[in-house]
Amino acid sequence: MTQKGFTLWFTGLSGSGKSTLADLVYDELKHRRGLKVEKLDGDVVRTNLSKGLGFSKEDRDINIRRIGFVCNLLTRNDVIAIASAISPYRAVRDENRALIGPDRFVEVYCEVPLEVAIERDVKGLYQKALNGEIKGFTGVDDPYEPPLNPEVHINSGRETVEESFHKIIAYLEEHGFIEPLGESGYSKEEEEAISAHLEALGYL
Ligand code: ADX
Repeated sequence: MTQKGFTLWFTGLSGSGKSTLADLVYDELKHRRGLKVEKLDGDVVRTNLSKGLGFSKEDRDINIRRIGFVCNLLTRNDVIAIASAISPYRAVRDENRALIGPDRFVEVYCEVPLEVAIERDVKGLYQKALNGEIKGFTGVDDPYEPPLNPEVHINSGRETVEESFHKIIAYLEEHGFIEPLGESGYSKEEEEAISAHLEALGYL
């Protein structure tokens, strides 16, 4: 099967598990399945492509449009693009969906109860936002607009990371974005390589 490009777009509050899941899916698709994949993480993009942008609605929209622009370039060249940014505004996410093509855009909503995100507070930013040291923090004093019809809905307060990961992979397999692994647990490419190797050795 020739690889078809698509964009896997993770959206959700800080601490909802976007980057963790994006990393796991990236490793699975790239290293286990041998597919061409690229990753655009909000925190990383903000150190280069979107360096200097802040967190006003205008700046967030620019950030998300830039990420969408790159995802579109990758997708149309049949690379899988994985984006993970809070992307709090529905309209700009939908703009990216329209740009990339609705049949090539898979939105993954990572839902987490705010209390859980605050409890996790991996970066310590929620505490700062609650203390008023940071203004306009998503979920505290800045809006987050959840997707209305996400292709995949993760409940990171209730599911384990493994469950969420399998939900995403299952969606991609069931909807023909990636090929399911055979019963052997190897990808078709791996199975072919193994067969060719065994044949060369005279076993087949
Ligand atoms: S987005 O809104 O433009 O999509 P993005 O995902 O790139 O956001 O960056 C979010 C990250 O920036 C958070 O995970 C957090 O580490 C940091 N951050 C700093 N200030 C804020 C803020 N005011 N609101 C949300 N995240 C912030």
